[in-house]
Amino acid sequence: MEEREKFYWPWPDMPAETLLKKARAAAERAYAPYSKFKVGSALLLSDGSVVLGCNVENASYGMTICAERGSVSSMVSIGRLDPVAIAVAGGRSGAPCPPCGACRQVLAEFNPDMLVVLESPNKVIVMNVNELLPLSFSLTERK
Ligand code: THU
Repeated sequence: MEEREKFYWPWPDMPAETLLKKARAAAERAYAPYSKFKVGSALLLSDGSVVLGCNVENASYGMTICAERGSVSSMVSIGRLDPVAIAVAGGRSGAPCPPCGACRQVLAEFNPDMLVVLESPNKVIVMNVNELLPLSFSLTERK
């Protein structure tokens, strides 16, 4: 349980496991006919609402949108900028599906302290964006 205890989870109404379950459900809706690697994400906002995302691939492979960036776009499009946590699930069930480098930078834009929930065989992993992407790029000095 070491990773699980490293970061305090301050939202008793939305346990990390529940957020992960939502990410797993979102992965089922992924459009991934090329890689067959379905990813889902569930972005928790400060008022407890959840915005989902899934990867959307394209025949022009480079146009693919990752699940995490999809959920961030949806969040912004509903007028919200306050993510506090994100769960990501995909690929082999039970194996962690950590956000790619590009997605880490996009998550850091909105909250470098955002908690990141990942699957693992016998426990949920909780990390934060800062830990996944130290010294993320910023045009201004981070607090
Ligand atoms: N993918 C994501 O959705 N999120 C990531 O952080 C890494 C990769 C997707 C993109 C592509 O559709 C598939 O996983 C295989 O790379």
